[in-house]
Amino acid sequence: MIKQNYTIAENKLVASDTYRLVLAGKGTTDGEFVHLEIPGFYLRRPLSVCDAEDGKMMLLYKTVGEGTRVLAQQPAGTVISVLEGLGKGFDADACKGKALLVAGGLGAAPLYLLAKKLKAQGKKVTVVLGFNKKEEIVLEQEFKALCDSFALATLDGSAGTKGFVTDALKALQPEYDYFYTCGPMVMMKAVCSLLEGPGEASLEERMGCGAGFCYGCSIQTAGGPRRVCKDGPVFKKEEILW
Ligand SMILES: Cc1cc2nc3c(=O)[nH]c(=O)nc-3n(C[C@H](O)[C@H](O)[C@H](O)COP(=O)(O)OP(=O)(O)OC[C@H]3O[C@@H](n4cnc5c(N)ncnc54)[C@H](O)[C@@H]3O)c2cc1C
Ligand code: FES
Repeated sequence: MIKQNYTIAENKLVASDTYRLVLAGKGTTDGEFVHLEIPGFYLRRPLSVCDAEDGKMMLLYKTVGEGTRVLAQQPAGTVISVLEGLGKGFDADACKGKALLVAGGLGAAPLYLLAKKLKAQGKKVTVVLGFNKKEEIVLEQEFKALCDSFALATLDGSAGTKGFVTDALKALQPEYDYFYTCGPMVMMKAVCSLLEGPGEASLEERMGCGAGFCYGCSIQTAGGPRRVCKDGPVFKKEEILW
């Protein structure tokens, strides 16, 4: 874990209530998520790393409460304290050749960085994204440019398959040897029960320290209690007690 100051290079509305935050700095680009200090808030807020290279890190976030609403008001040039190098991320090596990535909403963010790693390893990558409506869609062009196969579902049918991400999966019948999923718990539970074979999911919990000290993010797993921030957020399918 490293604490670094980054400068906001961009903080832009890119979809419904959704902002792209580009941070420039000298820190590490390792880690599954970062913990951001937001002016006026004692507790930091965790956001997944969506992309990272050349001293820049890209995050996508939704304004859901006071913290993210204040974050959305921060202009380019603002200096922001970032705890980085946090979390145990997706295991790209667990996939032997054909990966299936399934996201709901902004669960797409950490899967983009994973897709880049898998492609760099020469693996075939299928991506299936689900959103409520077309105004919420993010990363569609980026995934299409990177991956071998892509499908989309929206709940209201305004883009792609009408329905849940599981409906798009049933329609696509993708070939894979390992799957990765990120999004709302109810969606990941449905994905894990639909998909056969091994896989892993990225969980979310409210966080205090974000670095393994306070045990505020503890959950029960098949292997006993685990901290989402330190032992996760990514857990193997069979470890998760839904
Ligand atoms: C490992 C991890 C990675 C995350 N990555 C992203 C990301 O890439 N993009 C993104 O938009 N969000 C992400 N989140 C969720 C994000 O941290 C919360 O949305 C944010 O902290 C809310 O802060 P707030 O002050 O705006 O909302 P608050 O005022 O604290 O809460 C507003 C509402 O959001 C809910 N909420 C707050 N925090 C969480 C949480 N951690 N999980 C589920 N619901 C929450 C609350 O229950 C409440 O209903 C991630 C969370 C974790 C744990
Ligand atoms: S948030 Fe403190 S241990 Fe996870």
